[in-house]
Formats: sequence, C-alpha cells, structure tokens
Amino acid sequence: VKVIVIGTGTIGSAVAALAADNGHDVLTIGRSSGDHQVDITDTAALRRLFSELNGFDAIAVAAGEVFSAPLAQTTDDQWADSIASKAMGQINVVRTALPFINDAGSFTLVSGILSEEVTSASTLGATINSVVEGFVRSAATELQRDLRINCISPGVLTESTDYHQFFPGFEPVPAARVALAYVRAMSNPYTGRILKLHNADF
Ligand SMILES: NC(=O)c1ccc[n+]([C@@H]2O[C@H](COP(=O)([O-])OP(=O)(O)OC[C@H]3O[C@@H](n4cnc5c(N)ncnc54)[C@H](OP(=O)(O)O)[C@@H]3O)[C@@H](O)[C@H]2O)c1
Repeated sequence: VKVIVIGTGTIGSAVAALAADNGHDVLTIGRSSGDHQVDITDTAALRRLFSELNGFDAIAVAAGEVFSAPLAQTTDDQWADSIASKAMGQINVVRTALPFINDAGSFTLVSGILSEEVTSASTLGATINSVVEGFVRSAATELQRDLRINCISPGVLTESTDYHQFFPGFEPVPAARVALAYVRAMSNPYTGRILKLHNADF
C-alpha cells in the first residue's frame, strides 16, 4: 500500500516509521522537509503534487498549525492563520486528493483533545479541532469509491515537552501510540471515526 504522510514532525515521523514497519511504501511530505514539499494552505500546489504521484492508497495528515492564546488576546491573524492551516489545510488535502487517490483509499486527519476538554486558553484550538472532526464525520458519508476518512485526536504528546505547561494534570501520550491509531485507521474498515488518544472521563 502506498501511503503519503504529510507532516514530518513528532507525529508524522512516528506515523511514517510505523507504516514502513508494517510493510507500506511511504512517501513523506512537509512544507520544507520530506520527500516532497507542499504548503497545505495552497490548493493549486496540492493538486499539482497529487497529480504527479501516480496514484496512492492512503494519506495521513500530521500537519497544520494552531495558535494558542487567551481568547481576549487572540488576533485576527491568529484566527485566520489557524483556520487556513490546521482546518482548511487538511480539508484542502482531502478535496484536492480526491481525483487522484486509488479506490478504497483512506484519509486520516488530526484534531486533538481540545475538541472535548478545556484548558486555560483553548478556545481557538477547540474551534479548529471541532471543524476538523465535523468535516471527517460528514465527509465519511459522502465519499465514493469505497474511500474512507477518519480522524486522530491525541492528547498532548510525551515528546512535546514545551506544551506540557499548558496541560497541567493531563496525561501525555507517546507519539508511538498516536502512530498506532493512524495505522489502525488506515488499515481497517473504519470510516467516520474519531480515534481518541486521551482520557476525557475525569
Ligand atoms: N504535539 C502535540 O502535543 C499534539 C497534540 C494533539 C494534536 N496535535 C496536532 O498534530 C499535528 C502535528 O503535530 P506535531 O506536534 O507532530 O507537529 P510538529 O512536530 O510541529 O510538525 C509539524 C509538521 O507539519 C508540517 N507543516 C506545518 N504547517 C504546514 C503547512 N502549512 N503545509 C505543509 N506542512 C506543514 C511541518 O513541516 P515543515 O517542518 O517542513 O515546516 C512539520 O513537518 C498538528 O496539527 C497538531 O495540532 C499535536
């Protein structure tokens, strides 16, 4: 199976490594890193890239930026950039890849714990993650050709130590566990699912 992993950071590199361990043919894409470069905010560039890849069976997205600030201090640019990057960026990937992905292919997007849980400055993140999850739930019902789409919702990562101060009392999750969820979503007949790597029960 030919798997495209977009994002070469903490999550993306773990997903690429695990997918390769599972015998997949992995192609990595970053903005300025990876086997190919593209900015997911640029739909024309995405279309060009996907058209040049000679077909593929899965896209796993582990990219997209969200600013974090207390609501009253968030700026117009922080809202616009966060929506353009993590929300529309991932939606752009799905829409532009549709003509090029093989039958029965899969999309796996990323949201995060803030769609369900609050921290002291989480409104922007909560909004973006909810957009991504809403898109995934609904797109799953509209995809044709046995295509599937799912979303991974991690808690703060063990490796992302800079973010730990913003998640006091939250249990971090290792990138390797998040990667398992991506591979599970792309390898089984899941669609419209949000796979949660956090415990919002307490
Ligand atoms: N880290 C966490 O604790 C955590 C928890 C929950 C959810 N998430 C979500 O998971 C995703 C990945 O997080 P991460 O920690 O793995 O990120 P990361 O280590 O900062 O890596 C981000 C990757 O995304 C790429 N990227 C960013 N903006 C892009 C764009 N506009 N076009 C193309 N590529 C772009 C970067 O490429 P370049 O380096 O080439 O620029 C980089 O490879 C994010 O959406 C994040 O919100 C993260």
